[in-house]
Amino acid sequence: MRIDVLTLFPKMFEGFLNESIMGKAIKKNLIEVNLINFRDFSSNKHKKVDDTPYGGGAGMVLSCQPVYDALLSIEGYQKAIKIMLTPQGVTLKQPIVYDLSEESHLIILCGHYEGYDERIRDFFDIEISIGDYVLTGGEVAAIALIDAVTRVVPNVIGKDESHLMDSFNNDLLEHPHYTRPSEFMGKKVPEVLKGGNHKLIEEWRKSESIKRTKERRADLFNIQKEATKKD
Ligand code: 6GU
Repeated sequence: MRIDVLTLFPKMFEGFLNESIMGKAIKKNLIEVNLINFRDFSSNKHKKVDDTPYGGGAGMVLSCQPVYDALLSIEGYQKAIKIMLTPQGVTLKQPIVYDLSEESHLIILCGHYEGYDERIRDFFDIEISIGDYVLTGGEVAAIALIDAVTRVVPNVIGKDESHLMDSFNNDLLEHPHYTRPSEFMGKKVPEVLKGGNHKLIEEWRKSESIKRTKERRADLFNIQKEATKKD
């Protein structure tokens, strides 16, 4: 998969793209990320990318021209899925992550300042938000999106670390995990996990998963109940 990121702050991505699973996915050529500073495309002599809003008011608005020219400079941009990051977009959820992981080319625009010139929206396919809070710009959201998509691209995560049991698949949170020692500061690992009875372990995990979802995310639990009713 190829991902082109349109950003005014390409350096914000450096550590993220070089470390851990993301770094490995890039080294293995499973993902290619290109950072494009759309300031380089500004036709303004001072390389300005924003301007004051028509109608007045506080803050600056991202202008159309630099974003548009940067977008058109990307080879194959017509066929790519073009994503705008904005708190006004659809909230990112795991099903969208899976859908995007099947694409071969994504273009992601990171906004800044008060907002985008409304006409920029016409050049993009979808608007995504990563949650109901406001960030200073789209870069942190782009990192979250690229990370979530990359880890479900085939061969990025090994078979033994399968993501199929992740929280949010099946609308359930994951069950608790434990590793050695069997007792830490008086806190013990549940006996069932040490007994070696795989059927009992599976049952325990499923029931813990349901209990946890009910306690912490009643919203997800209700979706799960609806789904079982239909079966
Ligand atoms: Cl995509 N951008 C900004 N600026 N803030 C956000 C966001 C995006 N998603 C949640 N908050």
